[in-house]
Amino acid sequence: MLDRAQASALADHLRSAGYTLEDVSDRLGSEATDALARNTTVAARDALGGADDPQANLVRLFLLHDTLTPDAAGAALGDLAPLEGTGIVARTGDGVRAGLEIRPYAAAGAGVDFSGWIANDLIPILDGRLDRSRPDYVLGASPASTTLAQMTIRRPVGRALDLGTGCGIQSLLLAGHAEHVVATDLNPRALRVAALTAGLNGLDLDLRQGSLYEPVAGEEFDLVVTNPPYVMSPPTGERLVYREGVLPADELVRRVVVEGASHLAPGGVLQVLGNWATTDDEPWVDRLRDWIGPTGCDALVLEREHLDPYEYIEVWLNDAGLVGTDAYLPRYRAWVGYFDALGITGVGMGWIMLHRAGRPTPDVHMEEWPHAVHQPLGEAFEAHLAGVGLAGSSDAELLGRAWRLDERVDVETLGRPGAEDPEHIVYRQRYGFGRAVEVDTALGAVLGACDGDLTAGQVIGAVASILDVDADALAAEITPRLRRLVAEGYLA
Ligand SMILES: C[S@@+](CC[C@H](N)C(=O)[O-])C[C@H]1O[C@@H](n2cnc3c(N)ncnc32)[C@H](O)[C@@H]1O
Repeated sequence: MLDRAQASALADHLRSAGYTLEDVSDRLGSEATDALARNTTVAARDALGGADDPQANLVRLFLLHDTLTPDAAGAALGDLAPLEGTGIVARTGDGVRAGLEIRPYAAAGAGVDFSGWIANDLIPILDGRLDRSRPDYVLGASPASTTLAQMTIRRPVGRALDLGTGCGIQSLLLAGHAEHVVATDLNPRALRVAALTAGLNGLDLDLRQGSLYEPVAGEEFDLVVTNPPYVMSPPTGERLVYREGVLPADELVRRVVVEGASHLAPGGVLQVLGNWATTDDEPWVDRLRDWIGPTGCDALVLEREHLDPYEYIEVWLNDAGLVGTDAYLPRYRAWVGYFDALGITGVGMGWIMLHRAGRPTPDVHMEEWPHAVHQPLGEAFEAHLAGVGLAGSSDAELLGRAWRLDERVDVETLGRPGAEDPEHIVYRQRYGFGRAVEVDTALGAVLGACDGDLTAGQVIGAVASILDVDADALAAEITPRLRRLVAEGYLA
């Protein structure tokens, strides 16, 4: 790839042409920007009209996949020789085309501010085209990358690992709060592309090639993030390295989780986006408990979606560009046969977080959570760690603390119009996971009075006397629920 000076010179050209996310979005306007996000170019072509300046030409070259004249390419990019030598652009009979995309990218909020560029392979799906990707295709920022980036806990750490870095997107963001970032990938092309991404953004990444944790044997990390190739597909030699491994069913995700635990430093956190198989004999929670239990780590697992085999297979046949081709039905059949042979009757998709908390009895919490959440979720995952720590206190400690109900919790009451009392009282988070909990009158009254002044024990005593019930009995009833509400981030 480009050396450091060449990458920095290229970044200077991109910057001085105004090829940044903000400037390009301003130039194209919201309709064309949104259309490009839907992989259609017509609106952007309309927005650019006949303009022939470097910014317009960089958009044409890298985002619309147009051919530029050598003069226009040179004016936008400077010396083309190193870019041709490294496959970033290619000279064709009629001009200069992109060999890779260089996309302006920015991430704001989520505890990390970043603005720069990401390099990745040319997307094969512009303007309704559905070309097949090369097996070693290097994916750019995808919705899954964004989800992982938004759920990553952004506290300052020493060593971070981005397993399966692809275009390098997670590493770019990790570099904002980690002293040292190791980025690994099985695919050597991905590492070259990630090196370009790093170079354009002036970052030092420790890039290493190899499968799973092989490149970091014996090393520990404070934070490991990964969006691994979790797609479960038949071993027919048509695999795309960015999305599917060679291990059967969900074995790759299992290894990411189980082996990842042994690479966590004390207090370290592993955050994984994954798929897991379900079978008729094994509910998903049992399967994941078998993975996680032996690690001794605390865990939070949220199943966001559950697909039946047909839905799942169709998603990934579509992603591979097989719709409308002769290969579609045979591949579909082979995939169904593969699932049948493994007894897979459904696929769960979701988020796994492990925490090497060193607790004698680890806190492992798993649930189906298909509801809307409030991204970015990094803060909610971090609050979960803190909440579980606090919730681990003894009953006496829990009751001896003054808790404050988060100010972003709303109360909803539901009942018949004119009824004296509501039938349901729900406390709902306007933040993080957007949890909701139904409470009875006593718990509702206790929560409503948690303003950080009185201890929980005092609040329960006061509520007991208003309701004319025994205070000790009420405390015994409410304490376990209070513990869960602390772990779930209602109370701080
Ligand atoms: C879904 S992409 C994720 C890329 C990027 N981290 C992101 O968040 O967008 C998965 C990446 O894992 C890499 N990969 C595939 N098999 C792997 C393995 N056995 N070990 C490490 N990386 C692997 C792929 O080459 C690809 O870059």
